[in-house]
Amino acid sequence: MAVHPVRLRRCTQAGTQWPSVSTTHPATRSTTVPPSLRSSPVKRTEGADPMPMQPWFREAKLGIFVHYGIYAVDGVEESWSFYRGDVSHERYMAQLERFTAAAYDPEAWADLFSRAGADYAVLTTRHHDGVALWDTAYGGLNTVQHTPARRDLVSGYAKALRSRGLKVGFYYSLSNWNHPDYASVAHPDPDPAIAVEDTLTNPYVVPADGEQNPDAWQRYRHYLHGQVTELAREFRPDLFWFDGEWERSEEQWGVDEIADRILAENAHTVFNGRLLGRGDYATPEQGIPVSAPDGPWELALTVNDSWGFRHSDQHFKSVTKLVRYFGEVIGMGGNLLLNVGPREDGSLPAEAITRLEGLGSWITKHDVAVHGTDAGLPPGHHYGPSTVSADRLTLYLFCLDVPREVISLRGLMNRIERVTVVGSGTELGHRTDPGLGAVPGQTWIDAPADADIDEHVTVLAVELDSPLALYSGRGRN
Ligand code: GLC
Repeated sequence: MAVHPVRLRRCTQAGTQWPSVSTTHPATRSTTVPPSLRSSPVKRTEGADPMPMQPWFREAKLGIFVHYGIYAVDGVEESWSFYRGDVSHERYMAQLERFTAAAYDPEAWADLFSRAGADYAVLTTRHHDGVALWDTAYGGLNTVQHTPARRDLVSGYAKALRSRGLKVGFYYSLSNWNHPDYASVAHPDPDPAIAVEDTLTNPYVVPADGEQNPDAWQRYRHYLHGQVTELAREFRPDLFWFDGEWERSEEQWGVDEIADRILAENAHTVFNGRLLGRGDYATPEQGIPVSAPDGPWELALTVNDSWGFRHSDQHFKSVTKLVRYFGEVIGMGGNLLLNVGPREDGSLPAEAITRLEGLGSWITKHDVAVHGTDAGLPPGHHYGPSTVSADRLTLYLFCLDVPREVISLRGLMNRIERVTVVGSGTELGHRTDPGLGAVPGQTWIDAPADADIDEHVTVLAVELDSPLALYSGRGRN
C-alpha cells in the first residue's frame, strides 16, 4: 500500500459528535486489495473512443452549477466547514432547522439559466454532508423530512429545466460524512493527486480506531447504490456529476455497478470523470488548465469565490472576466460550468443574476462564434482564444483586449475571403505579407473602429476559401 503523506488536520473539536462506526459485527483488519489485483477501469465501450460522449454535451458550451443546501442558512462552507472544524458539527447540523426554501422557484432559475445562454444545469442533489434534496427511500437526512422546507427540491428543478429544453444534471457526492456506516473502511491506496491530506485519518472518513468494518461498508454501498438508482429512475437526469471519489477506490464504491444501474435506467446518461474509470469527461475546477485535457471536458468555476451561498463573499467576477473565461474554455474545446449559490430560501443574489445575464447577452450577440463551433487555433497563431465553425470555413478570433491598429494571425495557409466583426457585421481590411515557399506570411487585420468594439470581448469572423489549414513548422533554416 502506497503511503500517502497524511496529517491529522481536525479531530479535536467535534469529539463525540462524529458518526460512530457500527460495531455489531466483529471488526476485521484491513481488507486491502493490492493494486496489482485490482481490475483495470472499465470503459463504456471497450476499444472505441475512450470517452464516448453525447453530442449535446460538446455542443452545450455553457452549463450552470447550483450548490444549494443547508449550508446557505449560516453561509458556511458547504460540508467542508464541519469536516475541517471551522464550525462544530452541532452548529452545522442545526442549519437543518432553519432551511426553509421559502422562495424556491425553479421556473425562475430555469428562465435565468436560459437567459445566460446555458444548455444544461447541475444541481447538488446531495453534498458530502449527506442532506438529500429529495424524499429518498434510502434513509439518512433529507429536506422533506428533516427541514421546515418540507419539500423535494429536485423534481421541480428537473421539470423546469426540461420545459425549456435544458438538459438536467445532478451533482451527487459518493461520500457522506454524516452516514453512520460511512467511516467504516479506508481507501487502500489514495491517489495523492486528488486526496486531501487527512483522507486516511479524518474520523468522518475512516474508522477512528483503525478497525475496518466491511459489513458496515456493505450497508453504505446499499444506500449509495440505492440512492443513485432512485435518482435515475425517478428523475431521469441527463448527466450525473459525481464528487468525493478520492476517499475510496473504484472497487470500494462499486463504480461499475453504479454506472450500470444508471445506464440501465437511461443508456444516454453522461458521467463526469469523478466516477473514475466510468467517467466520460474531465472536470478541472477553478482554473483553466494550461493544456486542454484529452477528450471532452468542462471547467467548473464559481461566479464569486464560493460554491454555496456565503453572506460574506462579495468577490463576484465581472462580466468581462466571465466572458474571458468562457472564451478561453470554449477555445480549448471545453464547456464552462458556472456555479451559483442560492440563499437558503432558494433566491439567487442579484450580483449572480446580473453576471449570468451579462454573459448571456454576450453569448447571444456572438452566438455564431460559440454554438456549432470547435476548439480553435493552437497557441502561437493568434494572441487570444479562437473557435472554428463545424465546416472549418470560418475562424473566430477573440480579442481579449482592445486591438491597436492591427490584429495579427500567423501560419494561415488558406486565402481569406472576408473578415467581419461578429455582432455588427462591419467588414475589416486585411493583408497577408509575402511568405517564403511553404511558409505563409503574417496576416494583418485592421483593428475595428471604436463603435465595433464589444465592451467585453470583440470577436472577428475570418471567412476562408477552403477548410482551415495551418502551418506550424519552424520556418526556413
Ligand atoms: C470542490 C469543493 C466542493 C464542491 C466541488 C464542486 O471540490 O470542495 O465542495 O462541491 O468543488 O466542483
